[in-house]
Amino acid sequence: MSVAIASAVILTTAAAYYWFINRHKPLKHILSELKHTIDMQGAGVGGLIDDWVNVWRNKVVLPDASGKIAVVTGGARGIGTEVIRGLLKANMTVIIGIRRPELAQKLSQTMENGQNLTAFQLDLQSLKSVKQFAENVLRKHLAIHILVNNAGIMFGDYKLTEDGIENQLSTNHIGHFYLTHLLLPALKKGGTFEEPARVVNVTSCAHHPGKIYFEDINMKEHYDTTAAYAQSKLAQLMSARYVNRLLEQEGSPVKCFAVHPGIVNTDLFNGTLFRTVFPWAMKLFFKTPAKGAISIHYACFNKDLEQKGGLYISNCVEGISNGFSKNVENQKKLFDISCELIGVEPNKFGKDI
Ligand SMILES: NC(=O)c1ccc[n+]([C@@H]2O[C@H](COP(=O)([O-])OP(=O)(O)OC[C@H]3O[C@@H](n4cnc5c(N)ncnc54)[C@H](OP(=O)(O)O)[C@@H]3O)[C@@H](O)[C@H]2O)c1
Ligand SMILES: *[C@@H]1O[C@H](CO)[C@@H](O)[C@H](O)[C@H]1NC(C)=O
Ligand SMILES: *[C@@H]1O[C@H](CO)[C@@H](O)[C@H](O)[C@H]1NC(C)=O
Ligand SMILES: *[C@@H]1O[C@H](CO)[C@@H](O)[C@H](O)[C@H]1NC(C)=O
Ligand SMILES: *[C@@H]1O[C@H](CO)[C@@H](O)[C@H](O)[C@H]1NC(C)=O
Repeated sequence: MSVAIASAVILTTAAAYYWFINRHKPLKHILSELKHTIDMQGAGVGGLIDDWVNVWRNKVVLPDASGKIAVVTGGARGIGTEVIRGLLKANMTVIIGIRRPELAQKLSQTMENGQNLTAFQLDLQSLKSVKQFAENVLRKHLAIHILVNNAGIMFGDYKLTEDGIENQLSTNHIGHFYLTHLLLPALKKGGTFEEPARVVNVTSCAHHPGKIYFEDINMKEHYDTTAAYAQSKLAQLMSARYVNRLLEQEGSPVKCFAVHPGIVNTDLFNGTLFRTVFPWAMKLFFKTPAKGAISIHYACFNKDLEQKGGLYISNCVEGISNGFSKNVENQKKLFDISCELIGVEPNKFGKDI
């Protein structure tokens, strides 16, 4: 009895508090945001369970990939740092795109084969910067073997980039979409039929509750930061599938994969209630960045995957993805909108000129 009363008091207090901090919003927005938040927590718990059950599957053998070129977005911290460490260990030449390239020297000093790391400035919130970065890469290398679209942000206030794109969509999806377009000609040169080049998209189990707001992709009508993160991660998954299909149809030696790295203890969670209230729980229950990088290395190197382009990977096996993302019509609709946002005709995507 007293437990029931205590629970009722806690729930009522929480509901009142939630309403109070959102009181300037219409009720229907308060409720839909609450639903998205609960769904997102559900996806997170699902991800944690997936990690506990499947942690033993996280194994990868780094090959000797000397002479090959990898491009990675982000990586001065978090999972990306560990991704770079592994690619260098595999004897690759690694180029990273980061907002502050001056951090790269210190980074390389902590890594085996650190002398084979180069950094160029990249801000995914600016299409101009993406173009500049791609030009810098292509000036040095005509052929590329692996592109890891790793950089990302989660949540935050409503903001449009200089190109008029919602911030999370721009950083996680559109910036990478444009980069992929610009680097695909070099990836096609790097890949062979025996050993295709690979694009690895770091997406998230957070795509699960997501949908694409086709009528208002920048969410100008009503911005819900949780739904915007889910949309951006869903978009990366759908694009990996759709572009993989296009490349298969045109017979190009490039395969695309989407990877959920696990629930990983990084600064991505800064600003979330979780980080503020339970930082110890993150240390205890989340993967380390090094463990998070394993599925990404697996997507970069595992030989069996050559026959499985378009796969969604979690803990080094096929992960469960939402139905919306598998629908090719949805994928095509998103592809067309994304092309429009970067100003490229759909039939010219990934092609020279
Ligand atoms: N951690 C998790 O549990 C988890 C789960 C699923 C998926 N993921 C995905 O994993 C990827 C890596 O996340 P993380 O956990 O390693 O997060 P993180 O520690 O916050 O690292 C994010 C990286 O992205 C870079 N970045 C952010 N905005 C950028 C921009 N506009 N231009 C260029 N680079 C930018 C950051 O660079 P700066 O240092 O310049 O900010 C940083 O290197 C993300 O795509 C994330 O969505 C993470
Ligand atoms: C990288 O090259 C060195 C020198 O040839 C070699 O000893 C090493 O095994 C290679 N690394 C991997 C992961 O194969
Ligand atoms: C790394 O860079 C050095 C110096 O540029 C070069 O001599 C060496 O071959 C590179 N190592 C690999 C594994 O590519
Ligand atoms: C990876 O994600 C980006 C951003 O969503 C997308 O543009 C790209 O098409 C995806 N992957 C591949 C291989 O194309
Ligand atoms: C995230 O928070 C931690 C702990 O407060 C802090 O040390 C770190 O610098 C923050 N990182 C970012 C990118 O804001």
